[in-house]
Amino acid sequence: MKMTTYARIAGTGSGLPDKILTNKDLEQFVETSDEWITSRTGIRQRHVVVEGETTCDLAERASIAAMQAAGVTAADLDMIVVGTTTPDLIFPSTACLLQHRLGANGCAAFDVNAACSGFIYALSVGNAYIRSGVAKTVLVVGAETLTRMLDWSDRNTCVLFGDGAGAVVLKADTETGILSTHLHADGGKKELLYNPVGVSVGFKPEEKNAGVRVLMTGNEVFKHAVKALDSLVDETLAANGLDKADLDWLIPHQANLRIIEATAKRLQMPMDRVIVTVHKHGNTSAGSVPLALDEAIRSGKVQRGQLLLLEAFGGGFTWGSALLRY
Ligand code: COA
Repeated sequence: MKMTTYARIAGTGSGLPDKILTNKDLEQFVETSDEWITSRTGIRQRHVVVEGETTCDLAERASIAAMQAAGVTAADLDMIVVGTTTPDLIFPSTACLLQHRLGANGCAAFDVNAACSGFIYALSVGNAYIRSGVAKTVLVVGAETLTRMLDWSDRNTCVLFGDGAGAVVLKADTETGILSTHLHADGGKKELLYNPVGVSVGFKPEEKNAGVRVLMTGNEVFKHAVKALDSLVDETLAANGLDKADLDWLIPHQANLRIIEATAKRLQMPMDRVIVTVHKHGNTSAGSVPLALDEAIRSGKVQRGQLLLLEAFGGGFTWGSALLRY
């Protein structure tokens, strides 16, 4: 009898810049207050890169930690997938830069751009390659330096984001692992959350602040995120014939505490079974879910055998989930 092959999380890691910016620090830049930011978002501080520090630097830190935890070497990796919307360069991909840093030259390496859902999208790719038997060991990373494209005079956006990376090593396993992934997108809502700068639309690198500018209609994004995540968690449980009561942990995208609380309410989960890092990290886009997952595992909260629901929502719009037995 042929056994099912799952993609199991064998190790996780984090990469956060050392520099921290508190809400009080932001009061120096824009007309805002710690009280406003904390009550509307739950964010108290965020890590930010310094001059010269890049997405690949954070990805490398997270990857080394994940590979150590998994007990794998560069030679074991069949594939590297990096979810990012803030690559070091337009090309080569951040995954290729990372592969060389890790000394894993030769394996497949590519980026996935799904904004804040980038890690879930990348995880689904790694999962599919392992389930199909094409790969045995895949490094999946979510890494961002979103503060590089913020307008620090726009209080609507600059208070929300931070930098960081998280990584997981997926290994083929017959016992346990990712049960399903669910991905969605709606390109019709582009104007609600985007960065208008690009290559093909006419990139003018000589323009001052070229590349800077996340444009967002925050309250509209909020409503769409809550609605999409509600139906996503229902879809994920139904696809596996499971009930919300079966879940041990919710590990959500960390954009806003109120969005996280809305999803927890939908699942009738008390907040002590929800991993929250948004107060420390802000919204690190594709970095947020793997950072929260790493913290949950290293702190000992999440135990082997438990059922975890990971979900994210972001620009595109994109949204996605993964249900896994850790
Ligand atoms: N400090 C103080 N006031 C601020 C502010 C800040 N940093 N940012 C916005 N405001 C003001 C607005 O200008 C507005 O003032 P006005 O009423 O005089 O025009 C007021 O606060 C309310 O703005 P609004 O956008 O309606 O607030 P909100 O309750 O929706 O909260 C967000 C704003 C951005 C925190 C919230 O909409 C949100 O989190 N949205 C989702 C964003 C997100 O998650 N994006 C990423 C998805 S991956």
